[in-house]
Amino acid sequence: MNAYIAGVGHHVPDKVLTNTDLEKMVDTSDEWIRTRSGIIERRVSEPDIPTSDLAILAAQRALKSAKISPKDLQMIIVATATPDMFFPSTACLVQAKLGARKIMSFDIGAGCSGWLYALSVAEGFIKKGYDNILVIGAEELTKITDYTDRSTCILLGDAAGAAILKRTDEDRGILSTYFAADGSYGDLLYMPAGGTRMPPSHESIDNKMHYLKMQGNEVFKVAVRAMYESAHEVLKKAHLKPGDVAFLIPHQANIRIIEATAKRLHIPMDRVGINLDRYGNTSAASIPISLDEAVQSGKIKKGDIICLVAFGAGFTWGGVLLRW
Ligand code: COA
Repeated sequence: MNAYIAGVGHHVPDKVLTNTDLEKMVDTSDEWIRTRSGIIERRVSEPDIPTSDLAILAAQRALKSAKISPKDLQMIIVATATPDMFFPSTACLVQAKLGARKIMSFDIGAGCSGWLYALSVAEGFIKKGYDNILVIGAEELTKITDYTDRSTCILLGDAAGAAILKRTDEDRGILSTYFAADGSYGDLLYMPAGGTRMPPSHESIDNKMHYLKMQGNEVFKVAVRAMYESAHEVLKKAHLKPGDVAFLIPHQANIRIIEATAKRLHIPMDRVGINLDRYGNTSAASIPISLDEAVQSGKIKKGDIICLVAFGAGFTWGGVLLRW
């Protein structure tokens, strides 16, 4: 019994924040942002639109593409670092808003690797006999972004991507997975306040502790190693080589991380999914968006080997290898 992706969809908010806009907000330049990160613009959700609203729109497109209805779903998993609330989970909010049956619904927190972690958890349930699992990556990172911190505010954007995972007897779908985490790096990319370690207070707000904090150059070094390791491990498990990969979809954090990963794998950039130029780093949403774009543009065809790799807060990292 294999698990395959039967439909994909994504949604981005309409509002665009360009590098030129950011030049007016912090001491930066379009040229610096483009050359150091590869980002040109990103999307920003409206203040009254929560993450679950982006998730719903992506989910509806994925359901349509898989030609199933919300009633057919047997499980909903949402990967997010920016849920609507601590609880209920964003997945429960999505379950109700979609009009799905009373099915198991829960969130996964694994930073930017969240959607791949979720996909792998869903695969486990498919092997147990479940079918039609909705796997969403949805984020509103701009709502935890400090727009006075030039080292982070240039990177982040809002978006959602979704896929429907189905059961099949055919030789297709997920071929191998690999996951890892190292919590000793936690303080290199984190949001200090709001949880039990530092509950919200006037002081935590005055000290800007409810924003994402990152030591970018330290994160960078580990990210390149971890993304390569993830691709290498999933290929090894499936007895395949980088040359067999028709399309590589890496998490979208920085074009230089993506280029370094592709170079180490000897995969040319025209076989690599890129959306960070338009959307920035959308965390758990970046890979399903790229997958949807590649399917829609015909870059992925039936039978192709697709390699998905991610890296994120935790640190977490991992990969999923698929036969489309
Ligand atoms: N505009 C202009 N200058 C900037 C800037 C900005 N937006 N942000 C930082 N700088 C400056 C720094 O202050 C520093 O100046 P200094 O040399 O005078 O001290 C200089 O640029 C270099 O900073 P550094 O942090 O070393 O830059 P970098 O080349 O590593 O690029 C990032 C910064 C954040 C783009 C890059 O490190 C990155 O993308 N890291 C990984 C992020 C990531 O993967 N995050 C999420 C994981 S899911």
